[in-house]
Amino acid sequence: MIEKLACAVAALCTLLPLLNTPVAADEMPRIVHKDGRHALLVDGHPYLILGAQMNNSSAWPRLLPLVWPAVEAIRANTLEAPIYWEQMEPTEGNFNFTNVDTLVQESRQHGVHLVLLWFGTWKNAGMSYAPEWIKKDRQRFPRVKNAQGLQTGALSVHSKPILMADSAAFAALMRHLKQIDGVRHTILMVQVENEPGIWGSERDYSEAAQKDFDGAVPPGLAAALSAKPGTWRQAFGDAAEANFSAYSAASYVEAVAAAGKAQFPLPLYVNAALYTPSTAAPKAGRDYSSGGPVPIEFAVWKFVAKSIDLLAPDIYMRDSDCLRTLDNYARPDNPLAVVEMSNDPYYAKYFFSVLGHGGIGFAPFGVDYTGYENYPLGSRETSDKSLAAFATNFRLIAPILRQVARLNFEGRLKTAVEEQNVKSQTLNFGGWQATVSFGLRQFGATSNPPGNPEADGRALVAQLGPEEFLVTGIGARVEFSRTGAGGKQFEYLRVEEIDNSKPDGPPLRLWNGDQTDYGLNFTQVPRVLRIKLLAY
Ligand code: DGJ
Repeated sequence: MIEKLACAVAALCTLLPLLNTPVAADEMPRIVHKDGRHALLVDGHPYLILGAQMNNSSAWPRLLPLVWPAVEAIRANTLEAPIYWEQMEPTEGNFNFTNVDTLVQESRQHGVHLVLLWFGTWKNAGMSYAPEWIKKDRQRFPRVKNAQGLQTGALSVHSKPILMADSAAFAALMRHLKQIDGVRHTILMVQVENEPGIWGSERDYSEAAQKDFDGAVPPGLAAALSAKPGTWRQAFGDAAEANFSAYSAASYVEAVAAAGKAQFPLPLYVNAALYTPSTAAPKAGRDYSSGGPVPIEFAVWKFVAKSIDLLAPDIYMRDSDCLRTLDNYARPDNPLAVVEMSNDPYYAKYFFSVLGHGGIGFAPFGVDYTGYENYPLGSRETSDKSLAAFATNFRLIAPILRQVARLNFEGRLKTAVEEQNVKSQTLNFGGWQATVSFGLRQFGATSNPPGNPEADGRALVAQLGPEEFLVTGIGARVEFSRTGAGGKQFEYLRVEEIDNSKPDGPPLRLWNGDQTDYGLNFTQVPRVLRIKLLAY
């Protein structure tokens, strides 16, 4: 009897932790928020998108053999691929899911996740991916008109039929994704449209748009933006056109997104064609795609587009413009995901900047070997060589991905990234400081860091405990010091290099001697250290 009871208790003890543990694999990908920080949870764990976005016309089954070698070369864990409305709904109401089915199947074979980009009403503020039956019927699907009354290459979102058609198509896509991926979670997020807005005109001047523009600003919006009630002009003065465009685009995207989310509630996002942050007074339609989710229209987008989980910047700007853009999009009310960035090797270092801003993902654009290059926005020739700097980042982070994503969500991670005139940076951890210097040789207590020839040094430091840190980097030296009132003395207690092939197992080796006497020096070889310091 006692034996039986002991067995039952033992069985219960083994079961209890299992019962308390959420069945992670059943969880949908979702974005969670805490204290103004964010995480993308995949199968219940914080995840980082180490991404690669293919060229626009590469998501065809027969082209994928030219995509996978590049995805492998860059060591992405997530592929970003467009879904073309024209391919998916060639005749009204008849859907062809061949492209997306092939993408999902091959992604599983290659062990990567997917982010899908819905090229619907908008692609770079134009309508080029709309099916022929929409392009040909200007009566039913009117175009945006400019101030001169000329039709443009964009669909007017002030007409109901186009909203109904796009919403129905997007809902059909999401319904299909639920059928094929409701359990496996290969697909992590979906981008709704691509760079919505209008180029070449501040707003739509079509008849329907004019009627809406002459009407009243929705009272809730006016209040949210602290504007006085009235017409768009009365409420916003010179900003009337820009805010009207933002409200129109955001309302349209929200309706399409809500229709899709009702079918399958994956995280959804919208990407922006940006103005350069240093532009004094950016003009809608000239400096950026009017109506898109750019920083000056955040309030409108956040008020309207409640089904959208995040607004994302497409970054083809370097140095301070890039960093200011990250500042603009990493907000308590907006998770930062740089789902499109130049694939010029210069931009690889910004992966660390994105992490340092609490970002949940990073993906260079134009990652495939189809032979198309968007130079000078991106690299001159996409190859294993041009992707190497991005691959080094991803190789470095892959073994510690979950840990890094979690530490970032908890606000315990900081990064330093070299700039042309920034050759050393200090990261503060309350009582401890990590000084990161760039371009120093590994041996010798040299000062005045010269910087790396390509200004591409980068480092990451995360606090694991009061005197314990995770440290890694490329082309960087990391040196700790104490800042607290309790004294300045300390020594390394233990410096472990983690085994990249078994990060949770015993360390590969301990660093000591020359390897720690002159700081912790990181070359191009991916190495991650777990260090314990001892203050005295
Ligand atoms: C931004 C767009 O979102 C991409 O699809 C692509 O067109 C790039 N611009 C330019 O290559």
